[in-house]
Amino acid sequence: MNFGGQVALVTGGASGIGRACALEFARGGASVAFVDIAGEDAMTETARALREAGTRVVSFRADVSDFGKAERIVSETRIRLGGLHLLVNAAGINEDAPVWRMTETQWERVIAANLKGAFNYVRAAAAVMREQQFGKIVNVSSVEAFRGRFGVSNYAASKAGLLGFTRAAAADLGRDRVNVNAVAPGFVRTPMSEKLSAEVLDEAARSSVFGRLGEPEEVALVVAFLCSDAARYVTGEVIKVDGGQTL
Ligand SMILES: NC(=O)c1ccc[n+]([C@@H]2O[C@H](COP(=O)([O-])OP(=O)(O)OC[C@H]3O[C@@H](n4cnc5c(N)ncnc54)[C@H](O)[C@@H]3O)[C@@H](O)[C@H]2O)c1
Repeated sequence: MNFGGQVALVTGGASGIGRACALEFARGGASVAFVDIAGEDAMTETARALREAGTRVVSFRADVSDFGKAERIVSETRIRLGGLHLLVNAAGINEDAPVWRMTETQWERVIAANLKGAFNYVRAAAAVMREQQFGKIVNVSSVEAFRGRFGVSNYAASKAGLLGFTRAAAADLGRDRVNVNAVAPGFVRTPMSEKLSAEVLDEAARSSVFGRLGEPEEVALVVAFLCSDAARYVTGEVIKVDGGQTL
């Protein structure tokens, strides 16, 4: 897909699905900024991989739940790369516990990173995209937004909240020619899912009609489609990328 002349900002861009999205944009000719709280090594390695793909890169080490930083990062991206056309909110965490044992901190941390983080970046990007009368936003939700699995009430609430937010933001921004969509991956092979037990991952692979977990690149390709001109009349939508895990 061709993103030549465009600027992409990817949160959670130093790992897994966010990193795959950043690389997909870079391969399509976009300049890429990414935000992450990852360590120096992961930040540097991702920036190097993006430069190798032949693109201009800017990285920011920041927590997406910080509202003020989102404004500053969007503004700096625009100044350093010349605009902001594509935004992917992929930063996310899980802190699982059954609801009777979940602490207030676990609840608040997951909602802050997964839901407030996306609001912060959409809020900041909206000003630039409205002025340009062009923008594509994709929020990375999860199939947990649709189903009830044990121990993920904070995560499921954040990801279901993200879908409501996506639809309402699409309504707010449509007249300014900004599309807002979401993807809902099933289990995908990333550092986040690697923390889960072998039993959970085997079960997830078996539940897919393809008999395997997803790859980050397979989510990135759908994100890229939603950011492309081919999807210009699609907004407020969610596409599951789960290999049939929830069929
Ligand atoms: N891997 C899966 O099976 C799966 C399934 C469904 C949805 N998702 C979602 O996809 C997104 C990416 O997950 P992943 O699997 O690639 O995980 P990952 O852990 O590989 O990548 C997530 C990245 O987000 C960053 N991050 C976390 N909290 C942050 C914060 N507060 N501020 C800035 N950066 C932050 C992490 O440092 C990491 O680099 C997440 O939103 C996750 O909920 C993942």
